[in-house]
Amino acid sequence: MTFLHSTTSGPISRRLKDEADTVIIGGGVVGTGLTYCLAKAGQKDVVLLEKTELTAGSTWHAAGLTTYYSPGINVKKVQWDSFKVFREVERETGQEVGFHGPGTIRLATSPERVDEFRYQMQRQGWNDAPQWLLTPEEVHEMHPLLNMDKILMGLHNPGDGHIDPYSLTQANAIGARMHGAEIYQQAGVTGMSMRSDGSWDVDTQYGTCTIHAQRVVNAAGFWAHELGRLCGLELPLVTVQHMYVVTGPIAEIKARKTELPVIRDLEEPSYYARQERDGLIIGVYERAELMKMQNRWVSEGVAPGFGKELFESDLDRISDHLEAAMEMIPAVRNADIARDVCGPITATPNHLPLIGPYMAPGLRNYWLAAGVYGGVIQSGGLGKYLTHWIMNGEPPYDLSELDPNRFSESWCNRNYVATKCRESFGFNNVIIWPKDERPAGRPTTRVSGIYQTLLDKGAEMGFHSGWEQPNWFAKEGDTPGYRPSFRRTNWFHPVGRECELVLSKAGIIDLTPFGKFEVSGPDAARVLDYLFANDLPKVGRACISHMLTPSGGVYAEMTVTRLGEDRFFLVTGSGSELHDLRWIEDHVWKGGYDVAIANVTDDMGALGIAGPRSRDVLAKLTSHDLSKKGFKFLSCQQLSLGGVRVRAVRISYTGELGWELYHAREDTARLYEAMMSAGQEFGLGDFGTYAMGSLRLEKGFRGWGAEMTVDNNPLEAGLGPFIKMNKHANFIGKQSLQQLQQEGLTRKLVCLTVEVEESGPDAEGNETIWHNGKVVGHTTSGAYGYHVQKSLALAYVPLHLAHPGTVVEVELLGSRRPATVQQGPLVQTHTARAQ
Ligand SMILES: Cc1cc2nc3c(=O)[nH]c(=O)nc-3n(C[C@H](O)[C@H](O)[C@H](O)COP(=O)(O)OP(=O)(O)OC[C@H]3O[C@@H](n4cnc5c(N)ncnc54)[C@H](O)[C@@H]3O)c2cc1C
Ligand SMILES: *[C@@H]1O[C@H](CO)[C@@H](O)[C@H](O)[C@H]1NC(C)=O
Ligand SMILES: *[C@@H]1O[C@H](CO)[C@@H](O)[C@H](O)[C@H]1NC(C)=O
Repeated sequence: MTFLHSTTSGPISRRLKDEADTVIIGGGVVGTGLTYCLAKAGQKDVVLLEKTELTAGSTWHAAGLTTYYSPGINVKKVQWDSFKVFREVERETGQEVGFHGPGTIRLATSPERVDEFRYQMQRQGWNDAPQWLLTPEEVHEMHPLLNMDKILMGLHNPGDGHIDPYSLTQANAIGARMHGAEIYQQAGVTGMSMRSDGSWDVDTQYGTCTIHAQRVVNAAGFWAHELGRLCGLELPLVTVQHMYVVTGPIAEIKARKTELPVIRDLEEPSYYARQERDGLIIGVYERAELMKMQNRWVSEGVAPGFGKELFESDLDRISDHLEAAMEMIPAVRNADIARDVCGPITATPNHLPLIGPYMAPGLRNYWLAAGVYGGVIQSGGLGKYLTHWIMNGEPPYDLSELDPNRFSESWCNRNYVATKCRESFGFNNVIIWPKDERPAGRPTTRVSGIYQTLLDKGAEMGFHSGWEQPNWFAKEGDTPGYRPSFRRTNWFHPVGRECELVLSKAGIIDLTPFGKFEVSGPDAARVLDYLFANDLPKVGRACISHMLTPSGGVYAEMTVTRLGEDRFFLVTGSGSELHDLRWIEDHVWKGGYDVAIANVTDDMGALGIAGPRSRDVLAKLTSHDLSKKGFKFLSCQQLSLGGVRVRAVRISYTGELGWELYHAREDTARLYEAMMSAGQEFGLGDFGTYAMGSLRLEKGFRGWGAEMTVDNNPLEAGLGPFIKMNKHANFIGKQSLQQLQQEGLTRKLVCLTVEVEESGPDAEGNETIWHNGKVVGHTTSGAYGYHVQKSLALAYVPLHLAHPGTVVEVELLGSRRPATVQQGPLVQTHTARAQ
């Protein structure tokens, strides 16, 4: 069967199209999936370039597993959509994709794993894909070949299975062409350059032709890093080996009428096993120290000439995995290994793909559909997601955990990438704990001037976009270290102590990880007024402001401080640095505004001081008027504190009296020491992000990535006071909000108190909310409120359940805990109290 018009051996006269809207580079399952979705959605002039033939990368030999399961809420949506796309493309093209749907069972053989399954279930109910727990008896009934000795529970996804990646890729290609896309094979991209208008010239080997495109998408699989280098990018990708074996026929399987479900045995040495004809495919995840990375490729790139190839298998390396499989499925003992496959696969530092527009200085219209480790199952959903973003200028739903800019080149070097990919591979099936921290590759170059000082004082660090920031501090008598748990653990009491410190005295927190930008120039006010929904502050003042998407979702939240008529200082959370900067730069560039944007994140340190005595502490270091009138809430002044020049903004995410003190990064230690010695008499101490999280929840403050994402509009999120519908400038999202106001809201963010057990767990966000036996919503954040001595959560619920006093249920480790809707935040902010 021939699938495509352009074949390997064309006449010399073959010609590439000259102009394209979108050029997608890489004809694997991901690139073809996107080409299909884009063309089907009506995008004209879509071109796919493949250097040899379709599927020639990782795709042709993939095991083809397709699952609805993902620990990430948003990734579940991607996979849900993939199944839909698979069905559509098969129906539309008539090209069979070889889908089998016997379901998957993940196996729990330890009590912690049973907890994890319950934890995953509590985050499942408000999502589309079905998933439920199985008793050992039910597991055995579905999969009679299993040795049940150690199995405590199963986690089941019906409808899961496998697909033929080769046929799927061909179907994508046929479908793409049906909708007008063009696909060129033997068209390797050899050079790429961006014109000053942001469009691209792409040089190919296809009769050495160049194609001019409005945008390019790098979907080059494990070559994506090489492709990036063609225009000076160092993408955070390496190539690792993945191995599976195919057994010969197994009598017990041959005797069955129905296909066995796929199993995933999760404890080390972990593996998956799915039926292939009358045998099994068993794929393994080696431990970090055994897994094989293409080390030379890390620095030198994919070996030139490496084609549609496999690596040499090494069965010794995986013998304990196979041994474990034989113990779990005894029938395997009698089977031969008919074939083994050891193939290249692309990896990112946290094994999540890089999806979306990529930002680097001066770069425009460069998109990534790369680093896709489960490319078969994610291809359709990612294609749909990118299609929406490309065609509508905004993502269809929040997928910020796949943001390609979460690893910035400023801290993420090749060595970090390799170290982290190794760790992630080894952790393939480990339990994912709440507040997961992973040690490899830390610290990076992003450490603040008091990193060591804080460590010496017992800081337990958390990792945020390359930075180390204290989660909490272990003092004498505490159990130090990272002891993750699904329930309350060693940091529970210490965090309470830190909250108490901030509420009764004062505490310092290292806020250096904040993303910090300066926007200046003649058009600065004009463009920011258009980008942000709040009024711009006056000179010397600051405000919380939101950037909305055209359809009215919350794209970002920042503190906007006006340093001069034409000069602004923007601060965002550590997790959204380049995510936010990209949006600003893009709009500035598209609108041709005359402004300069500087990313000063790595140049500036930031310390926060908060608590009733914070004014007294600072007063000892400056003669400046810090009084309520002299230094108003949400104002910004230049101070000299103990000889250090700081830009001080009176604001604190704790909701207490406090300041954020921005300064040159080399001054952090000096400033910290000066404050600590001035604060001694007032009992000043340290606090971390966990205490901050609890304090802000008591005040009902919203958090980006939790209450505020593109999936939420600011009205239902309760951000009304920050949105100025009547301001004189038009702003992005305004029209959609007007429409929303007319239509009325359907749900609302509420504050809940949750009745939990003494040992927890407390809610943390993403839990399912039940009412009368039905799923009605989900939480977005949660923590224990030490001051009010209640377990708290923020949650989206339908309007009719948003009245104070309404009782709903929050699912926590298999138990539905009663939760009561509160009138508002449980604790007033300092400024509200001081009125
Ligand atoms: C042994 C093994 C088993 C696997 N099992 C599964 C599984 O069960 N389920 C699952 O979901 N995933 C599985 N995977 C992962 C899956 O194979 C990949 O995630 C997926 O194939 C990636 O697809 P892709 O399109 O991103 O990349 P690729 O398939 O690698 O395609 C990239 C394409 O880009 C082309 N290209 C590269 N450079 C250029 C250039 N300069 N110009 C033009 N074209 C270029 C290449 O020729 C190639 O065709 C497995 C992988 C391996 C190795
Ligand atoms: C909830 O899920 C979203 C999407 O996967 C994720 O970004 C967020 O961090 C999750 N929150 C918690 C507390 O797990
Ligand atoms: C952000 O700042 C860092 C360090 O100052 C710099 O290396 C990087 O290029 C900046 N990023 C962008 C996208 O401007």
